[in-house]
Amino acid sequence: MKFFVDTGNIADITRLHALGIVDGVTTNPSLMAKESRKPHEILKEICDLVQGPVSGEVVATDYEGMMREGRELREISEHIIVKVPFTPAGVQACKTLTEEGTRVNVTLVFSAAQALIAAKVGAYFVSPFVGRLDDIGHDGMDLIEDIVEIYDNYEFSTQVLVASTRGPLHIIQAAKLGADICTCPPAVLDALFKHPLTDIGLERFLKDWEKAQQK
Ligand code: E4P
Repeated sequence: MKFFVDTGNIADITRLHALGIVDGVTTNPSLMAKESRKPHEILKEICDLVQGPVSGEVVATDYEGMMREGRELREISEHIIVKVPFTPAGVQACKTLTEEGTRVNVTLVFSAAQALIAAKVGAYFVSPFVGRLDDIGHDGMDLIEDIVEIYDNYEFSTQVLVASTRGPLHIIQAAKLGADICTCPPAVLDALFKHPLTDIGLERFLKDWEKAQQK
């Protein structure tokens, strides 16, 4: 399973990329708004650094506007994936952009029916938001299970990009279900490294080694 980092923060991406665990990056308008530079400049820098899929999202809500923004975004780099919201206009833009050879990530997906439609119009990635479903009392992972089953039944090539992840459990559950990718905030990727027994074990090894040096 691939790991994407869900941020527009260059420092976090640089740090995590150096560890060798980042396959790509997802951004959204809220994440970009937290940064101080222009979104296109940031996206270019991320693409140059990661050399893998980097999702940049349109903010237009009509088909023509999405097409214009999508075409501008894809000029930034060959690594750009144009992200469109799951709306009728977004679905239509996904179809046209895909026909033009642009890879599209259909985002804000909250049902299996939406994921099925995204696959039918050739989405490269579909982004179901598990954390936001959990927040309203649903089990986000049930949605991932449904989408993986449906895509397998029809051999759709659309990749399941599990989004809105909140902690290590989401990542493990997504991996068990066979999802293609998890996009994680930096703190979630950091949390994947942590285990108290690793820390205790390392501390003990180092102390024992120090004692052995005094013999
Ligand atoms: C996905 O691409 C989105 O950027 C994202 O995962 C949103 O998650 P949130 O619910 O943490 O805002």
